[in-house]
Amino acid sequence: MRVLDLGCGPGSDLVAWDVTASDEVTGLDININNLAIAKARFPKRSYLRGAGESLPFDDHSFDRIISGVALPYMNIQKALAEIYRTLVPGGGLSLTLHAPAFTLAELVHRAIPKPVPTIFRLYVMANGVYFHCTGKTVGFLRGRTESFQTERGMRSALDRLGFENLSFSWKRGPAGAMFFVSATKSKAASSSPAIRAA
Ligand SMILES: C[S@@+](CC[C@H](N)C(=O)[O-])C[C@H]1O[C@@H](n2cnc3c(N)ncnc32)[C@H](O)[C@@H]1O
Repeated sequence: MRVLDLGCGPGSDLVAWDVTASDEVTGLDININNLAIAKARFPKRSYLRGAGESLPFDDHSFDRIISGVALPYMNIQKALAEIYRTLVPGGGLSLTLHAPAFTLAELVHRAIPKPVPTIFRLYVMANGVYFHCTGKTVGFLRGRTESFQTERGMRSALDRLGFENLSFSWKRGPAGAMFFVSATKSKAASSSPAIRAA
């Protein structure tokens, strides 16, 4: 199976995602330092630099796309449109995301009373609320983007593109509540989503 690890960071064995040694894994991240670590740790995998909002792959390149807490840092509607385009019809998407409580804790425990981090965390909170209401995110200064995600926002964003078999679950981990989402691209789908996200 061809698997894309989107926002792969420094790489991981991906066992928790049910990725096996027979899978052909490609990792993509925007951070070149993370990629260097990933390449050293997993020399048999392909790692390349790129942005989730503009994937450097042909249509239908992957049977499965996984992404561990990387979508919260992307323009979600653009990244999901790219995920949809690069998945084969019937391909699977598995995500972990940021719960609202994570963003609130960052604001209360790490940002306040420092002015710049507080302003940024207030933007992240507002962006999360906007995502909840619209299924879309907006960038901050210089395009830096972050938001929290909710089931309602993800349902809206995934439905808009034509994803099917949506599944949502929450689990408590060491870093607080973790939000899991999975979906599939319709077997009858073409590469382009019915509605392209702006
Ligand atoms: C919290 S880390 C998660 C890393 C890894 N997936 C994991 O589960 O440990 C988020 C990663 O997303 C990457 N990232 C952030 N924005 C991105 C973007 N627009 N396109 C691709 N990767 C991005 C960051 O560089 C970082 O490595």
